[in-house]
Amino acid sequence: NFQCASFTQSAPSIRECPPEQGLEVAFAGRSNAGKSSAINTLTNNKKLARTSKTPGRTQLINFFDLSDTTRLVDLPGYGFAKVSRQLKEQWQENLSEYLHERKCLAGLVVVMDIRHPMQEYDTLVINWAIEVAMPVHVLLTKADKLKKGPAQATLLQVRKSFKEAGVNDLVTVQTFSSLKNAGLDQLKQTLSGWLTG
Ligand code: GTP
Ligand code: MG
Repeated sequence: NFQCASFTQSAPSIRECPPEQGLEVAFAGRSNAGKSSAINTLTNNKKLARTSKTPGRTQLINFFDLSDTTRLVDLPGYGFAKVSRQLKEQWQENLSEYLHERKCLAGLVVVMDIRHPMQEYDTLVINWAIEVAMPVHVLLTKADKLKKGPAQATLLQVRKSFKEAGVNDLVTVQTFSSLKNAGLDQLKQTLSGWLTG
């Protein structure tokens, strides 16, 4: 039940994350892509994860418990131009470490603005997940910003790229809109599958 989500803690690094018990699903993506908004839509709680017009709002790893044994994780956004190179490298290191070492991570949602899918860092993060055979669900969000035809064309194009790379057994793709609550059932179904093991 995604509506039961409650904030539990923030962690500045993987060392300060809660104990590796149960299962969690993490949301990664570029700054301002719509990660926190997607979590709020999923949990039907507009106040759960802080959203902002200013990129780089979420700078900590935020944990939201769904139950004693299941969690959602809001990761800091990447690719934000205005942060220092040092901070960018720190984030990359943290994210890579989190994906490679966090045993209770059941799957990764990679949130992309449907108008700018598959940027350099998105591909990098997805490749890290594939390296460790972690399932990835790509959320092409802000679909309300495009007409139906172009949105569908982007969906098919992104799916095709994973098929051609031979990783379509690990990577699924859908369109989404937090503004319109569109694609919610499909997202819930994927996450439920991961969280029940
Ligand atoms: P960081 O925490 O900075 O990495 O950003 P984030 O990925 O968590 O993005 P956030 O959810 O804060 O959303 C960024 C901006 O996009 C906000 O102004 C949201 O209102 C807007 N936004 C998010 N999802 C949607 C959507 O589905 N449609 C539209 N039109 N706007 C959206
Ligand atoms: Mg955020």
